[in-house]
Amino acid sequence: MIQYQCKKRNEALIYKNHLRQKYKERIKMDKSQRRDSFGSKLGIIAAAAGSAIGLGNIWRFPYITGTYGGASFLIIYLVCIAIIGLPVMLAEFIIGRKAGRNAIGAFRKLTPGEPWVVVGWMGIAGAISILSFYSVVAGWCMDYIYKAITNSFVGQTPDQIGTMFNELITNPIRPVFWQLLFMILTALIVLSGIKEGIEKYSKILMPLLLIIIIILDIRAITLEGSVEGLRFLFQPDWMKVTPKAVFIALGHAFFTLSLGMGTMITYGSYINKKDNLGVSVLQVTFADTFIAILAGIAIFPAVFAFGINPSDGPGLVFVTLPNIFPQMPGGYIFGVLFFILLFVAALTSAISLVEVPVAYLSEETNIDRKKGTILTTIVISAVGVLCSLSQGPWDATFLGKSFFDLMDYLSANWLLPIGGFIISIFIGWRLSGKEVRKEIQEEGTKGSYTSVFLFVIRFLAPVAIALVFLNSLGILQFG
Ligand code: TRP
Repeated sequence: MIQYQCKKRNEALIYKNHLRQKYKERIKMDKSQRRDSFGSKLGIIAAAAGSAIGLGNIWRFPYITGTYGGASFLIIYLVCIAIIGLPVMLAEFIIGRKAGRNAIGAFRKLTPGEPWVVVGWMGIAGAISILSFYSVVAGWCMDYIYKAITNSFVGQTPDQIGTMFNELITNPIRPVFWQLLFMILTALIVLSGIKEGIEKYSKILMPLLLIIIIILDIRAITLEGSVEGLRFLFQPDWMKVTPKAVFIALGHAFFTLSLGMGTMITYGSYINKKDNLGVSVLQVTFADTFIAILAGIAIFPAVFAFGINPSDGPGLVFVTLPNIFPQMPGGYIFGVLFFILLFVAALTSAISLVEVPVAYLSEETNIDRKKGTILTTIVISAVGVLCSLSQGPWDATFLGKSFFDLMDYLSANWLLPIGGFIISIFIGWRLSGKEVRKEIQEEGTKGSYTSVFLFVIRFLAPVAIALVFLNSLGILQFG
């Protein structure tokens, strides 16, 4: 009798455990199936373009182009975009959509137990280091909105405008305040969810940014002495090409397209199976490159017209454009709008960076989205404050660079291209051609370019990345 009761109780217990297990599994499944996906085709393109278009195009591209030789640098950069940027973006979309996961989860799902997941970890490190200096520049941009509103550029000489910029970035408090505000805004948008959060903002505002830049272009080209600037940007001087310039151009191709660290894997996971990946990649890349070139056309003519040094470094946009606004009709409103839109462009990029660690935390650990966002924001802000202080009060150098420059240099020129290299090997050699083809041509979408893509991602892209690295390390010398 006792034995019988025991048995009964045991069975009841086993059954209870069984139910509990089932329940747990259901919750887990719900969690993984409850992924948002972009509502419309425009949604994903707008969001991916929102990620790609940012300070990289308008702040970073002009200043490194100015430093590394102008037109010849521009051409090398365009080649990197075409033979490496395009295929790597497609590769990231394929990985993301196929796995339907964040950057780390995607590799865990597609190739469990294999070391490819290191790309995901590098992505988290990349997101933190990029956003730490990115938020500083976004903060400068916010300060410039304030400056534009209070009409601070009027009646200033180019020299005074340069001093104004230096005073801002070396100040121990002001840029930190803006930077933290920027991080808080970014976190708030990420918390509002993928769809509503990202889609809404980039769709309307990026085209508006484009229009303002075109207006600036017209004013810049018609300045006296602008021809010199156009020549600098479009007439190559191949003597200026150094292995370092090629290395920097490659890094920037990754940076500007948001590649090499899982952002586009994460975004790819939200893309609908019906969408044509190749077309989306072309559209995003075209929009990004177009904006960068237009930004160059606004900046370089003005650089020469106002006697500014094109290799002035990270301050170039901030010391150049404020000279133009007072010299154009409606300059006040264009100045204000320009910095507001640049800020929005920075915001949509920052969202995509924060999304990498947040998607990881919420899908792979038991930290929820809210806590994950707060945690990520705190870590990035802490490193970011160091970046900001390293522009003035904190004068330590690493490898001869300030902490700010170090974060920029390591992430864009090392982490991203290495990440991109591994991603191309993964798609080209680890997945089978059949799997890749299937994902590209999902639900009957056209993918006649698949064979070309497979060739590029297997051979051209990784070999090109490797050569640039070997060349810049001095192991292989060309010419
Ligand atoms: N591409 C953005 C810009 O040009 C910056 C950015 C957003 C980024 N997400 C990224 C760069 C991911 C590298 C990786 O401003």
